[in-house]
Amino acid sequence: MSNFGKLNSTIIQSLISVTGQDRSITEPETLKVYGKDHTEDFVYLPELVLIPENTEQVSQIAKICFENTIPLTSRGAGTGLSGACLPVHGGVVISFEKMNRIIQIDDINYQAVLEPGVINEQLQLAVQEKGMFYPPDPASKGSCTIGGNVAHSSGGPRCVKYGTTRDYILNLEMVLSDGEVIWTGANVLKNSTGYNLTQLMVGSEGTLGIITKIVVKLLPYPPFRSLMLASFASATEACACVSSIFKAGVQPSAIEFMDRKGVKLSVQHQNISFEQKEENAYLLIEVDAFEETALMPQCEVIYNVLENHQVLEVLMADDSETIEKLWKIRRSIGEVVKRQSIYKEEDTVVTRGNLPELYEYVMQISESYGFEAVCYGHAGDGNLHVNILKNDLSEDIWQNQLPEAITKIFEKCKALGGTISGEHGIGLVQKPYMSIVMKEAHFNIMKGIKQAFDPKGILNPGKIFNN
Ligand code: LAC
Ligand code: ZN
Repeated sequence: MSNFGKLNSTIIQSLISVTGQDRSITEPETLKVYGKDHTEDFVYLPELVLIPENTEQVSQIAKICFENTIPLTSRGAGTGLSGACLPVHGGVVISFEKMNRIIQIDDINYQAVLEPGVINEQLQLAVQEKGMFYPPDPASKGSCTIGGNVAHSSGGPRCVKYGTTRDYILNLEMVLSDGEVIWTGANVLKNSTGYNLTQLMVGSEGTLGIITKIVVKLLPYPPFRSLMLASFASATEACACVSSIFKAGVQPSAIEFMDRKGVKLSVQHQNISFEQKEENAYLLIEVDAFEETALMPQCEVIYNVLENHQVLEVLMADDSETIEKLWKIRRSIGEVVKRQSIYKEEDTVVTRGNLPELYEYVMQISESYGFEAVCYGHAGDGNLHVNILKNDLSEDIWQNQLPEAITKIFEKCKALGGTISGEHGIGLVQKPYMSIVMKEAHFNIMKGIKQAFDPKGILNPGKIFNN
């Protein structure tokens, strides 16, 4: 446990003088906004929020926090699902809302230089205008920031073909815990120069340094896509179909799984017209291409596989309205489940072929513990989001029995070649489960790395580790 210093009025004044009064927040009601994210109903108030405008200001803030041992937590848009940006030890929150510039889009080298507060979708649209493609597309793409995406190596539907945020990060400018500024690598496509600090930073959830600039790799934009919705009576059969699609030689640009409840809640809460018959699960499958003629052959192969897996119906979405509607149903599931009830979101991930077994096990556990689960996610990645609804479960069951059920699900993930988070990170809520997938020796190496980057333990304390 770190012994943090007290954020007294002298330190507060010197911190505020870095950003200026109008870029700092101490007013309790507004602090609340920065004390929440999208994880359950948690609120942890920061004592001071600073909104820097450049790296130099971030560096000065870090220097003051370092000298006085004040907790320092970075925040993007607060759409995270593991509580990683919550200032659980109070102190200072740095919000990147004003460091949101796309500094450069380089169409010679297919890369872009960004500040961390750039919204994911704004980047996608800006590069698309120039014929380029930034694939990672979390469900919250309209509001989440690239900085937050880097912090978690966020994913999304397209990652099944294109990889997660991790695969697009070439170089990072970062402020170290004492205020020193470094670049972690170089803006090149290959780099064999010492330890790979760039990749170490990706997914480190603000515990090792503060990212202030991001260089991302871009691809040529594939302009053609087809989308189909397949419905199944058996959810297990839908899961089993996923690996068969790859085995048939097709690489879809998305294969999303949705259970009946997830779709039902999504259409109900958003007033979308969508009829449900006897189906219990769906696969939303997209293929993309550079030539329009390349789409149909892929769809035909997929269609044959679906037929072999007892598909009930296949809807080809060929107009933009249906395409948008189907993606809206899928992308909103997490959000609408939250409107229904407080929930715990488990970001389970296993090898793709083991998805049916994971799904069945989750159903078995939900039945034996008596909780309602909504399952959906990136089936092509073996990444199943399991939302456990609180509904009218007692506080005792929620606090005491549920961790046992979650432990069992995570142990199953491990047994099926997987782990406890595919794309949402560890943050606050998954850290009690780390020992399921990590030996002590492994954890100790991570602790050593943390110590090397952050000797005073001020960077996002209380996340991943118990400091
Ligand atoms: C999704 C988020 C929750 O896939 O990761 O909808
Ligand atoms: Zn997801």
